Amino acid sequence: MKILILGSGGREHAIAYKLSRSSLVSDLIVAPGNPGMKATLPGLRTKNISVTDLEGLLEFALSEKPDLTIVGPEASLSVGVVDLFQQNNLLIVGPTKAAGQLETSKAFAKKIMFAAGVPTADYSEFTNQQAALDFIIKSSQEKMVVKCDGLAAGKGVVVCQTKEEAKNAVSALMSEKLLGENVDHLIIEEFLEGTEVSAFALCDGEHFTFLGTACDHKRLRDGNLGPNTGGMGVFAPARCLENGDLEWMETHVFSPMLKAMKELGMPFSGILFAGLMKTHDGWKVLEFNVRLGDPETQVLLPLIEDDLIPWFKASAIGEIKKHQAECGQKNPTRKKENGVHVVMAASGYPGTEGVSVRLGDEISFDPTFVLSDSDFLFYAGVDAVENIFKTKGGRVLGITSLSDSAELARESAYHKISQIHFFGAQFRKDIGAKA
Ligand code: AMP
Ligand code: GLY
Repeated sequence: MKILILGSGGREHAIAYKLSRSSLVSDLIVAPGNPGMKATLPGLRTKNISVTDLEGLLEFALSEKPDLTIVGPEASLSVGVVDLFQQNNLLIVGPTKAAGQLETSKAFAKKIMFAAGVPTADYSEFTNQQAALDFIIKSSQEKMVVKCDGLAAGKGVVVCQTKEEAKNAVSALMSEKLLGENVDHLIIEEFLEGTEVSAFALCDGEHFTFLGTACDHKRLRDGNLGPNTGGMGVFAPARCLENGDLEWMETHVFSPMLKAMKELGMPFSGILFAGLMKTHDGWKVLEFNVRLGDPETQVLLPLIEDDLIPWFKASAIGEIKKHQAECGQKNPTRKKENGVHVVMAASGYPGTEGVSVRLGDEISFDPTFVLSDSDFLFYAGVDAVENIFKTKGGRVLGITSLSDSAELARESAYHKISQIHFFGAQFRKDIGAKA
């Protein structure tokens, strides 16, 4: 099969790595991809087209005729790449623009969760600043969470410890252009406390298969301090799960969401990624994303034993249930090992602390740097200039290590990280550490 992957980060490098191992795949193209994945996966081709350039992507796909396209980033989904490819009879894994509203609109996701009876924080919705401020003043709670409705690359959620902070957040978002433009739609949510878990299901509009769980570390610094980032590291599987939790998520989160979306006339296909919190009151969904997580994918996919191509294809053609019956498995087999992934980011990342992200630094490796079969180097924001890798993005690269022991996986990932160097590199030292 010829496979096209859309995206350019560590997530897409991990997808490309996983699919490159499939005996069904003969040709792998990533658009736009990055030079790191090209250097490490022999035969992989990259094509420099932006993930939101619908015309360019369609023209390329019609000329290459991939058997299956897999979408990495939400940006492609939110402009409707799935709708367009489907209209042109190109098989693609991912939700339509309408179904993708589960990620692109927090208010939409909340409405569906309430309609479907999926446990989530209470919330109110506002399109008027004064109404939001009045709500905060009258609230019986000091702590609350202000979230802008649309996509905001992780910058649209403000967790507020006091009413004063919440009022400031509303003003900053609605009239002081905190996100570049003023936001005209936001929600204010009940503050929840607990341990966060990301859970991933691959869906086909009606049925789903479970891909696994992971724990992301979104803050820049150790101990969950510093600004929010896209994710600085992850371990998998999540450790706070108890017997029955996965079954609970299937029955109380994924099944009712798929049923509700189908009833609405927006059947959900592709990856449904639930961000959940284990509170004293049970599990609650914080948010949905409609794609694989970055960096969760960098550990989730190496932990999957089976070839994912038949599962991805089953998702695209609405045959997950049929595939489950044929292969006699509910889910792709997952390795029993533990995985840890540590991200190395550029100096200044994420660029929200008054310094800009520094790019263009050479990346070097100790001469003794070697990867074993259970270590993986996934490139993200890198450029190649005459065979020398240079930093080109906030999150530059990451190392995943797998081991029977979570502690050994962690040691191995950090050993590899210590052998990679570039100016001002930032990484957390506590990914996968015992709580
Ligand atoms: P979201 O994009 O909605 O997942 O929010 C980003 C982060 O904000 C989450 O990973 C949580 O750490 C935090 N967060 C979101 N909603 C809540 C909530 N209701 N209570 C406490 N923290 C939250
Ligand atoms: N790592 C969180 C995300 O991909 O949204």
